[in-house]
Amino acid sequence: MIPVILSGGSGTRLWPLSREAFPKQFLNLLGKHSLLQSTWGRIAPLATSAPLVVANEEHRFMVAEQLREVDCVPAGILLEPVGRNTAPAIAIAALEAIAGGDDPLLLVLPSDQVIVDADGFRAAVLAAMPSAQGGKLVTFGIVPTGPETGYGYIQAVGGHATTDAGVRAVAQFVEKPDADTAAKYVASGDYFWNSGMFLSRASVYLAELEQHRPEMLAACREALQKAKRDADFIRLDKAAFAACPSDSIDYAVMEKTVHAAVLPISVGWNDVGSWSALWEVADQDGNGNAHHGDVVAQSCRNTLAWGDGRLLALLGLENVVVVDTDDAVLVAHKDHVQDVKGIVAELKKRQ
Ligand code: GDD
Ligand code: MG
Repeated sequence: MIPVILSGGSGTRLWPLSREAFPKQFLNLLGKHSLLQSTWGRIAPLATSAPLVVANEEHRFMVAEQLREVDCVPAGILLEPVGRNTAPAIAIAALEAIAGGDDPLLLVLPSDQVIVDADGFRAAVLAAMPSAQGGKLVTFGIVPTGPETGYGYIQAVGGHATTDAGVRAVAQFVEKPDADTAAKYVASGDYFWNSGMFLSRASVYLAELEQHRPEMLAACREALQKAKRDADFIRLDKAAFAACPSDSIDYAVMEKTVHAAVLPISVGWNDVGSWSALWEVADQDGNGNAHHGDVVAQSCRNTLAWGDGRLLALLGLENVVVVDTDDAVLVAHKDHVQDVKGIVAELKKRQ
């Protein structure tokens, strides 16, 4: 099994800590490693091959340095000259993985998620392997806790598992439904959130892409054929990759394939999509306050304070997020942290 680590995020939701030049996966949010490093660390004991990492060319030194810090020697760092979303990124990795004539299992992993129960996650990957070997695209499904519209929803068939390992057939996959549809899905009880992690044989993914988006596969083939190889770095051909249509695996393949399967997992998964999501997984004191850096707080409840050198003092606050960086400070109500995207968009207009 080859881990394929996707490291192409743009880093708007944890502004001002994450920036375009320094997106979320490179941040050290919990503990001593970055999310990218933890992604590798949690799967390293199971990986029978070194990982393929797919990243934006601009981040190449950061990726290489962070992997080196955790003694990860990648099979290759595939560098995208422009972002074309996840379907092409995974296609490039799959093409590289089969280049030697093998057809390995690929474990596709976003680089910017938190999983509290790493043992449970590894057990799930092992459980999914027979189905993936048998030609399924196995997704890992999360029991939904609310009608989130930022996730893909997977409807499992029937009320029972189709394999002993708990893998279930998929009735349908719906990427990012509207709020009303999401609410119905959550109420029905047989939908799971798509975690964005997949296990499948490289050839199975490529055959699906050939069927549903042949022009995308052709562009990826050309971009990899003409790539320049320089030590670990595999620089995709710019013209060929730029000509590739942009789409996520969710729309390009998962909504259309008849080979999807889902393994429901309960492993403390969190995609750290906002400051409030980080607050949920961070260590909290008895009053629900999560603090990082030099912070003094009195009469506060459920706050998140992120200091970066300077002392932060909080008094009498509830449900407030404070993030201090060298050149920007965010103060927000926890219910509004999704709107940080809007602030980033406004700042872009100013540039
Ligand atoms: N290499 C590379 N290139 N990686 C990319 C690119 C790209 O162009 N675009 C995105 N990624 C990486 C991101 O860094 C992230 O780790 C992962 O792929 C998913 O991309 P997001 O942009 O975070 O997707 P999303 O959050 O909108 O939706 C996806 O994730 C949800 C769970 O977090 C979907 O798969 C949803 O169905 C899913 O529920
Ligand atoms: Mg995401």
